[in-house]
Amino acid sequence: MESIGWGILATGKIAHAFARDLALVPGAHLAAAGSRRLESAEAFTAEYGGTAHGSYEALVADPDVDVIYIATPHALHLDNARLAFEAGKHVLCEKPLTLDVADAEEMVRLAGVHDRFLMEAMWTACHPVIRALREQIWSGELGTPRHLHAELGFRVDADPDDRMLNPELGASALLDMGIYPLTVAHLLLGPAEQLTATAALSDRGIDLDIAIAGRYPGGALATMTASMTSYSSRRCEIATDRGRIHFDDFHHPTQAVFVPHAPGPGSWVVEPGEPMVLLGEELVIGQGYGNEIAEVGRCLRDDLRESPLVPHEQTLTLLRQMDELRAQVGVTFPS
Ligand SMILES: NC(=O)c1ccc[n+]([C@@H]2O[C@H](COP(=O)([O-])OP(=O)(O)OC[C@H]3O[C@@H](n4cnc5c(N)ncnc54)[C@H](OP(=O)(O)O)[C@@H]3O)[C@@H](O)[C@H]2O)c1
Repeated sequence: MESIGWGILATGKIAHAFARDLALVPGAHLAAAGSRRLESAEAFTAEYGGTAHGSYEALVADPDVDVIYIATPHALHLDNARLAFEAGKHVLCEKPLTLDVADAEEMVRLAGVHDRFLMEAMWTACHPVIRALREQIWSGELGTPRHLHAELGFRVDADPDDRMLNPELGASALLDMGIYPLTVAHLLLGPAEQLTATAALSDRGIDLDIAIAGRYPGGALATMTASMTSYSSRRCEIATDRGRIHFDDFHHPTQAVFVPHAPGPGSWVVEPGEPMVLLGEELVIGQGYGNEIAEVGRCLRDDLRESPLVPHEQTLTLLRQMDELRAQVGVTFPS
């Protein structure tokens, strides 16, 4: 495979951010974009290149496209992926993969039936700083994590029909934002043993704010929030028995800082040591979407069907957790 031809399915907000980063990734190019409206696809390809298609069906049939990036609202991901697999394309699908684990299992099954690559676009798991931090935490070098706190939220001022607020399209602070603290906790602490949530719901029954408490292997605890009504710190802090780690914009941080605390000899007093900055070995490409694009390219060149950074089982585990949390707070989707 010389340069991998990408087909972007949908031309909304994240599709633009993705296309900007795609242009920075060596060995990858935008072959085509597909939209429900031809004018929208044409405006998109005028900006980023490639062929414009006025339907998703025409996009997946394009022979210049090797892999489809699905950038529609979550409730549509499964149908879009089915279309792509049936046309013989590989798939990178936006997060959350689907609304619930049953649909995600079906998507994984379809990828297997058609022998195609499938990865959830969980860019955080491909991010160089998160990968470096994960390695260092698991090596024990930063001590044993005992408590993680992460929060992600911003005020959503959108039309009631917008995907962020419309239950028909899978609106949910948990699915949109809460997936990130849950993912970071999963990557850094391991699979949750217990999760409990409380939430504030909209008058249409979707979770606008959610707070989650979790217990992880070895007794590590996590507290996590997601909000569509307020501006959170977007920070993650981890307390270990050796010190404290913190990183801002935690789902795509530019760096993480470890502040060690060393006990003074013969005394109970602890003194903070020199902070240590973790950057990761690879460069961040663009906003960080470039790194997930590069990871898909690496997997396709190695003829893999799933990525070791975002394995299917990890995606399914996170969706199982979110199913359980939604059940606890009483959120169901019409579909
Ligand atoms: N990784 C990240 O950082 C990140 C950030 C934001 C969002 N996301 C994920 O990306 C997905 C899309 O989010 P977005 O913010 O880009 O959404 P958006 O701006 O609303 O765009 C969604 C696009 O999907 C297409 N679409 C097809 N059927 C639709 C329908 N019935 N209603 C609305 N749109 C429909 C439309 O494109 P056409 O008209 O061109 O067909 C629309 O522009 C979501 O699953 C979200 O979780 C990920």
